[in-house]
Formats: sequence, structure tokens, C-alpha cells
Amino acid sequence: MDLEHKPLTTAKDSVVIRPFYPSDASQVLNVYFTGLVSGVDSAGYFAVTRAFLHWTPMYIAYILSFSGGGVLLLALRTDFQILGLVIVLLSCCFILLIYYRIRNTFLGYYQDGLRHDMTDISQYYRQDHEKNGSPIRCFWVAEIPSMTSETGYEVVGCVALDCSTNNNGPLMGELKRLFVLPTCRKRGIGTKLMQTVIAFAKEKKISSLQLETTNFQPVAREMYSRLGWYHSATRDSDFEAGGMKMNFVEYMLPL
Ligand SMILES: CC(C)(COP(=O)(O)OP(=O)(O)OC[C@H]1O[C@@H](n2cnc3c(N)ncnc32)[C@H](O)[C@@H]1OP(=O)(O)O)[C@@H](O)C(=O)NCCC(=O)NCCS
Repeated sequence: MDLEHKPLTTAKDSVVIRPFYPSDASQVLNVYFTGLVSGVDSAGYFAVTRAFLHWTPMYIAYILSFSGGGVLLLALRTDFQILGLVIVLLSCCFILLIYYRIRNTFLGYYQDGLRHDMTDISQYYRQDHEKNGSPIRCFWVAEIPSMTSETGYEVVGCVALDCSTNNNGPLMGELKRLFVLPTCRKRGIGTKLMQTVIAFAKEKKISSLQLETTNFQPVAREMYSRLGWYHSATRDSDFEAGGMKMNFVEYMLPL
């Protein structure tokens, strides 16, 4: 099948799932960044929300900064004013430090991807790999029509299949890079992207799929369970946000 130019699936509201074109690169990186680091329901967003809204040390920092601010305003020209200033500065530094640490962690994951398959998506996921009996890989995007974009469309989601191990045993593929822009969620695009990978994997005689997510992505986990994936393993990470440790969670789907 020529995957270069044929849309694989068309959703009812003009969403088209098709293989990646090189001209999609910058839009895909935006979807990737939003989905991992900054957008609603991304792991980075979950970690920040958890730390800022559900963590006792953060509440203490809020209370201290308000009380320090009060002392600063009321205790004019007394030694207490310096104390108030120190309390405000220390609590603000704590809040900023937590934010910086969380953001840096997820920027690190983003940059790891940039050093790996996301550096040059067309090269890593190129279709002619298969011709030499080499890895089966493909990268898809979800596009919607756009009046404002020069290309006439906007990339709003992506997903990848990476089936690199081919040691004469059953083929096992990895589903990766599943992201949908927050403005386009809950329209079935994520599900359609996954169905596209599953259909392609079946066509390529891949016997099972695996994926890795985290306990900081509850929406994605819920979706995997609903689509028949089963939880196969959990690995600890060193990272903790808002008093909650992040774990890497693996899922499998026999095909
Ligand atoms: C996970 C993700 C790809 C789902 O994309 P999507 O286009 O919203 O998916 P769908 O529209 O197919 O919805 C899947 C289900 O999740 C539900 N859902 C989506 N967003 C939700 C939210 N914020 N809260 C609760 N449920 C939500 C949908 O209602 C739907 O369930 P339903 O079929 O029972 O109605 C998207 O939320 C996302 O990009 N999240 C951030 C990145 C991420 O976690 N990616 C996974 C990497 S491992």
C-alpha cells in the first residue's frame, strides 16, 4: 500500500488521518510539546497542577508568602519589615523552584525525543525501511482544514508505530507519540489515531503492540483500558511532583 499520499481514515468532522509529510515537522513538534509539557492533560500539566493545588508544602508556601506580605506592609520601618521581606522572598523562591524543577523534567523528556525519533521524523519513520526487511515504522498525523494556514490544513494530532526488533520471533510493535491538541480533544481523534496504528500493525502481521505511559496521564490510561489494552508492568521513576511519585506504566494489546 502506498502510504505517502493516501489518507487512511476520514472522520465525520473533516479530520483526516494520514502519514507524515516533511512539511508537517514544525506543527508536529508543537503538538508533541503541548501534549507532553504544557497543554491541559499533558504529564507536565498534571505534575504542575498536582504540586500547586494538592500539595501541603505548597499551601504552607502560599500562607507564608501572604503573611510575609502582610508583615511587610504593616510593619513599616521596623525590623519586622525585613523579616516579612525574607519570608516573602523565600516562599516565592520555593514556589518558583518547584515550577522550574517540574518544567525542566518534562522539557528533558521532550528533548530526549528530539535526540531520538523526533529529530528527523521522515528519516526515522521512512517507509522504505521495510523493503530491506528492516524495522516497520510509520508516523501519522491528524489534520483538519484551516483557513489561516498556508498549507490549508492544521496538524492537530499525531501517533507513531515503531517495530524495530525483528529477530525471527513474533513481531512486537510499540505505539508512541500519541498526542492531540487540547482544542481538538474529545472528538474521537485520539481513538482514530490508535485505530489507524492497530489496523496498520495487523496488516503488517505484528502480533502485539505495547506502549508506555505514566500515572500522570490518567485520561490516556483510561482510553487505553477502554480500547482493550491491558496493564502489563509498572516501573518506578526518580521523579516526584506534589507528593506523588511518577511511575512509567506499560500496556500491551495482543492483535
Ligand atoms: C490521550 C489523548 C491523546 C486523547 O485524545 P482525544 O482526541 O481526546 O481522544 P478521544 O476523543 O478519542 O477520547 C478518548 C476518550 O477520552 C475521554 N477524554 C478525553 N479527554 C478527556 C478529559 N479531559 N477528561 C475526561 N475524559 C476525557 C473522551 O471523552 C473519550 O472517552 P469516550 O469515548 O468514553 O467519550 C489526549 O487527551 C492527549 O493528547 N493527552 C495528552 C497527551 C497524552 O497523555 N498522550 C498519551 C501519551 S502516552
